[in-house]
Amino acid sequence: MIAGGIVESRFVAGFSLVDHHLQCDGVDLRSVADAEGTPLYVYSAALIRERYRALDDAFAGYPHALHYALKANSNLAIGRLLNSLGSAADANSIWEIDVAQRMGFAPHQLVFTGVGKSPDELERAVSLGLKAINVESAGELARIEAIAVRQGRPARVAVRINPDIDAKSHPHISTGLKINKFGVPLDAARELFATLAGRPYLTLVAVHVHIGSQVTSLEPLRGAAEFVAAMALELRRVGMELEYVDVGGGLGISYDGGPVIDPRAYVEAIVDAVRPTGLPIVIEPGRSIVGPAGALLARVIDLKPRNAVSDFAVLDAGMTELMRPALYGAYHRIEPVHATDAAPCHYELVGPVCESSDVVGRDRMLAPLAIGDVLAILDAGAYGAAMASNYNRRPLPAEVLIDRGRWDVVRRRQTVDDMLALEHIGSTATVR
Ligand code: LLP
Repeated sequence: MIAGGIVESRFVAGFSLVDHHLQCDGVDLRSVADAEGTPLYVYSAALIRERYRALDDAFAGYPHALHYALKANSNLAIGRLLNSLGSAADANSIWEIDVAQRMGFAPHQLVFTGVGKSPDELERAVSLGLKAINVESAGELARIEAIAVRQGRPARVAVRINPDIDAKSHPHISTGLKINKFGVPLDAARELFATLAGRPYLTLVAVHVHIGSQVTSLEPLRGAAEFVAAMALELRRVGMELEYVDVGGGLGISYDGGPVIDPRAYVEAIVDAVRPTGLPIVIEPGRSIVGPAGALLARVIDLKPRNAVSDFAVLDAGMTELMRPALYGAYHRIEPVHATDAAPCHYELVGPVCESSDVVGRDRMLAPLAIGDVLAILDAGAYGAAMASNYNRRPLPAEVLIDRGRWDVVRRRQTVDDMLALEHIGSTATVR
């Protein structure tokens, strides 16, 4: 109830089926698809808030900072929403830093990760005075130092250590093993730390690990937190006091509706691991905040027989809009926005792109589809729009943020003019 005794309209945050209609934050998704066209990303502001707060609250007073990993989804409106909730951010390129600043993040709220930072990126990063540049090698540290000396401004750095922990995620998104390109091996990190006393233009503020993404068992995440805590204590013993430890991101979500790590259990595990140091904890969650809060709406544009038992349903969205199934064999639940009770049929849900890998959903059972039906590809809020491409000259899709019963187009659909705005035929094309 709100003041005056009026019953506040209630809805489930995120995506829910109400009387056979798929809704997002109480808004019927068919009406959004009809108004804005497809393919279309839709995001639930209520669920983003809820998932941010669930992680934040789980720290229960233990000092911490959530640095939302912008790579998951760096739409301006979503970044601003998270900024307004008190989030800080993790950026993976100087361009993400530029975007972050336009979202309202100040340099002291930004950590800068990335396995390959160019000289220009480092130059700007040092001049901005970020919370930390997460350093990936001895060479990079030396380059940062040289820039800091030249600029006359000490750089705040964290060393990303490769802890050789198996995140047990998909090999493409596991980063914590020795064989992966990420971070500095422990021995090399110890050697680097030993040099820091004589390097006044480098301020070591933290140690950092990130073992991978879509991690669905708690043990590797706990192990990573124990690893940085042990490192912080080791450094303290030799008189090097850190400001915080950064345990990275990686908390997985449930793509198939099955159980996954509860955010509270995750936070409890990392707090328990780090508590002996007394240091604040930085986490860099991306997927766990925005993944379940987004869906990709697509329309059926063709139907044709596949084999004796199944049909192809060709959608107007595919690997160009959502690359995850083609790239990682990732599974996303797919639901019609208008459900029926009709007996399900067997479909291979494919995109329109000229690649056989362009399959959005393999071997799915869905109520009979008709041309024009709208389907929702769920849990697409992270690494969906962010990884979309113009392959086949397909325009980047529009994005809509739904909030309190209203929606805003927070990114309009790209046009051919947008795509061609950067191109120039030049003189060679006119030479016969
Ligand atoms: N911090 C660092 C240093 C990272 O490299 C990443 C993700 C994160 C934080 C955020 O991780 P999250 O909490 O979202 O798991 N495109 C892949 C995911 C790649 C993740 C890359 N790094 C996918 O669609 O599954």
